[in-house]
Amino acid sequence: MGSTSGSYWDRQAATYDRTTALFERRLLAPSRAWIAERVVGVTLEVAVGTGANLPFYAHRATDLTPVEASRAMLDAAAVRARGVGKPVRLVQADAADLGLPSDAFDTVVCTYAMCCVEDALAVLRELGRVLRPGGRLLMADHVESSARLGRGVQRMLDRLTPDEAHEHHRRRPLLLVPDVGMRVVETTASRWRLVERLVATPA
Ligand SMILES: C[S@@+](CC[C@H](N)C(=O)[O-])C[C@H]1O[C@@H](n2cnc3c(N)ncnc32)[C@H](O)[C@@H]1O
Repeated sequence: MGSTSGSYWDRQAATYDRTTALFERRLLAPSRAWIAERVVGVTLEVAVGTGANLPFYAHRATDLTPVEASRAMLDAAAVRARGVGKPVRLVQADAADLGLPSDAFDTVVCTYAMCCVEDALAVLRELGRVLRPGGRLLMADHVESSARLGRGVQRMLDRLTPDEAHEHHRRRPLLLVPDVGMRVVETTASRWRLVERLVATPA
């Protein structure tokens, strides 16, 4: 499958929700709620993971397509989608090569995944391609902190994280969006910019 093997994430799927639970409520969930408020219409969620966003917004999407590289993650997302009563069309694909039609989606959601894709520009370009003109990309990620202490911890994490995770703790998608012909129309960040959120639209 494209540039990303799902095997590392296949091994994380069973324990992912437990290992992230500590950060979920305070650090990750507020951005899920922020994004959910902005979801409209035919929606694609890329790198859906175990589907942690679905309970926040599934009721707002008229049609929902979750995409994932990892089969095990996708299976977990399917369980979550059933739990929130939302029929979904699950797609196993690389975010850089979705195999979906152009100009097809009103909303593209992607959270906490740009930090671990191999080619961030290729992924952003692909997300822009599948958005219809006037559609919106909703994104949140943990990014390079504005606090010196935060950046120090992130540099340490970059060294400690296994290479196969492709984790970039200091990547900032916000700075890459203009390079793929999209325009950031709204952005906000958590305290110390540990998490940054954005809304972008094809320019
Ligand atoms: C840190 S998890 C985040 C999951 C979810 N988006 C969330 O907010 O909890 C990153 C996810 O990105 C997926 N992923 C990584 N690279 C990918 C790629 N190139 N294409 C599709 N999914 C990818 C992984 O399989 C994993 O499920």
